Amino acid sequence: MTDNNRVYIFDTTLRDGEQSPGASMNVEEKVVVARQLAKLGVDIIEAGFAISSPGDFEAVHRIANEVEGPVVCSLARAKPGDIDSARDALKGAVNPRIHTFISTSDIHLKHQFRMTRDEAKKCAVDMVERARGYVNDVEFSPMDASRSEPDYLYEVIEATIAVGATTVNIPDTVGYTLPHLFGELIKGIKDNVSNIDKAIISVHCHNDLGLAVANSLYAVLNGARQVECTINGIGERAGNASLEELVMILKTRADVLDLVTDITTEQIYPTSRLITGITGMSVQPNKAIVGDNAFAHESGIHQDGLLKDKTTYEIMRPESVGIAETTLVLGKHSGRHAFRERLAELGYELDDTQINLTFERFKRLADKKKEVFDEDLEALVQDEVLRVDVPEKYSLTKLHTEGGTSIHPKAIVEMEVDGKLILKDGEGAGPVDAAFKVIAAITGTKSELLKYTVNAITGGTDAQGEVAVRIKQDDHTVIGQGAHTDIIMASARAYVNALNKLEHKQSQNKEGLI
Ligand code: KIV
Ligand code: ZN
Repeated sequence: MTDNNRVYIFDTTLRDGEQSPGASMNVEEKVVVARQLAKLGVDIIEAGFAISSPGDFEAVHRIANEVEGPVVCSLARAKPGDIDSARDALKGAVNPRIHTFISTSDIHLKHQFRMTRDEAKKCAVDMVERARGYVNDVEFSPMDASRSEPDYLYEVIEATIAVGATTVNIPDTVGYTLPHLFGELIKGIKDNVSNIDKAIISVHCHNDLGLAVANSLYAVLNGARQVECTINGIGERAGNASLEELVMILKTRADVLDLVTDITTEQIYPTSRLITGITGMSVQPNKAIVGDNAFAHESGIHQDGLLKDKTTYEIMRPESVGIAETTLVLGKHSGRHAFRERLAELGYELDDTQINLTFERFKRLADKKKEVFDEDLEALVQDEVLRVDVPEKYSLTKLHTEGGTSIHPKAIVEMEVDGKLILKDGEGAGPVDAAFKVIAAITGTKSELLKYTVNAITGGTDAQGEVAVRIKQDDHTVIGQGAHTDIIMASARAYVNALNKLEHKQSQNKEGLI
């Protein structure tokens, strides 16, 4: 069915990844992420769970119709309505896939599904058949496979392949298995499912014990040829197998593994940064491949070795995952052409309008900041272009804050609300708190602030601050972002961005769109 050493990368950042607490993305953001995933070279994008909400349905539909390259997939429970909704959402896709699932473990069947084994098997078979009536590419997942009784699992897999499942995905739903046991399970499937050569074996591992990537690797060594993973390893609870780790393991140790993917590894870092920017979930500094320290060498002995020869302490080059060496790239005299070229080198192909917008911001930044680094340019693109603006009910027109040892921190804020200028002032525990209180008073928001994070993008006190603000009202949680050399400005921009997103979400809700 496949080249024997080719591993297919199924990205579920937009589905399982989005199930991370607080990582919800709006439709526009999902389309931006999907475009970047296509650039990264993933084989399959799981764009959402069509029946779960009108927002997910729309995201699957838009990605299916607007993003070229990968197979586009929608998740569906093993229920007729789910399968039909996935079919409708995927209408127009060049290569659509329906991914349907039902549990096979006795724990799930007894306590959650309240079904017998025979009923679950029949349901799986009927729904795979139904999906095959709509599309040629159908994936079936026996959920909680790693805790299912192997003989029953083989039976269900065989029956679903017999009615047309083209991929059978083996989930370690609760992150319970161990590498050697999971490898044995995959081998058991290969040895005991008579028609297994008619489907690709896939795996889907969760990271509850920190083993998602190791378990996926053992599966691949035992014959799995599709791995489900997410950027930065985000996902339900402790997350899913991290795409960047799995891909770089296969690439860096090709000498012993002899397995290949189609991933353009130089796009890994820009993709990771995009996900961080959109979800507001930063990766830990020591995270393999994409963490801030992944290529930083602190000890003198290591630095000495590196200066003599990079291979002494580097098993892969930072450039191979798209991390450009932090160099001074551009200054205030740099022209539009050099600016566009540098962004393209960093993986951002912008159109003329986007270049004009970001170039103006770059010039203003270069006036304020002596040195402009690649990270500054990335933050600028994230803030200006990839921030994916929703309609702006609110915009910040003026901000003045005071703080220090001898005065009560205060803020004066002017905002345009539905086209009308409103000016107010107020006090707070610090200038950011004062600015947020005044913004809340002007907008009359009832939202609750869940999280506020500030990151310095580069070193130096003139660094840009990158702020993420997570707010919640009723059932809606959104994340706003802002970047600026003045962290109070960055914070206010992030808060206003979050309020606009919330407003947009609530108005869609009123119109019955989500
Ligand atoms: O973790 C899981 O079992 C899943 C399935 C829907 C594949 O996400
Ligand atoms: Zn999962």
